[in-house]
Amino acid sequence: MATDRYVFDAYGTLFDVAGAARVAAADDAALAEIWPRLADDWRRKQLEYSWIRAITGDHADFWTVTAQALDWAAEAHGLAPSQRDRLLDLYRHLPAYPEAADAMATLRQRGAQLAIFSNGTPEMLAEAVASSRLEGFDALLSVETAGVYKPAAASYRIVTDHFGCLPGEITFVSSNGWDVYGATRFGFASVWVNRAGLPVDNLPARPGRIVTDLTGLA
Ligand code: LAC
Repeated sequence: MATDRYVFDAYGTLFDVAGAARVAAADDAALAEIWPRLADDWRRKQLEYSWIRAITGDHADFWTVTAQALDWAAEAHGLAPSQRDRLLDLYRHLPAYPEAADAMATLRQRGAQLAIFSNGTPEMLAEAVASSRLEGFDALLSVETAGVYKPAAASYRIVTDHFGCLPGEITFVSSNGWDVYGATRFGFASVWVNRAGLPVDNLPARPGRIVTDLTGLA
């Protein structure tokens, strides 16, 4: 029987991207009201910058893009330099979603190979995995190998090159609808983790499966 291969997006799928602002707000009263909007703005700019850089070819790594997006959000929300620095530091140690560790363990027990494929740099991914104590990944794959962000086809090819397999032999799991679209278009079997109950994006390919959280994979 062929080995199942589950490849996960990182940010928003395994790691809670709102976690940095939420943790910072726990002991910074000035962030108590604004942290959800701050987290949204930061994430939105981070993704916009990644897409723009993929289209124009002006690649910079995801740590740079994440910091530049935070600089925009910090200016928009009037943050002090120390608040900005704390948020960026917290981004290196985002919490995993509560069900992630058990979902991974179940798939591993069934003999599946597990990997991450993310816009994040190799260093960001190694730190996030270590600090969240998610275990058992066969590979942490970064778009840095191709120097272009998802959803460019050249990025997803990193995964098939790594495993030496066809796109259809990969199950790609992401909570980002645009990423699921790119992965489906590339030929992966795709799973959209639709935590927020959003409508399916109106793009030329639909997710293969839709689950509400990672528990739904098993
Ligand atoms: C990632 C971003 C897109 O991990 O969430 O690739």
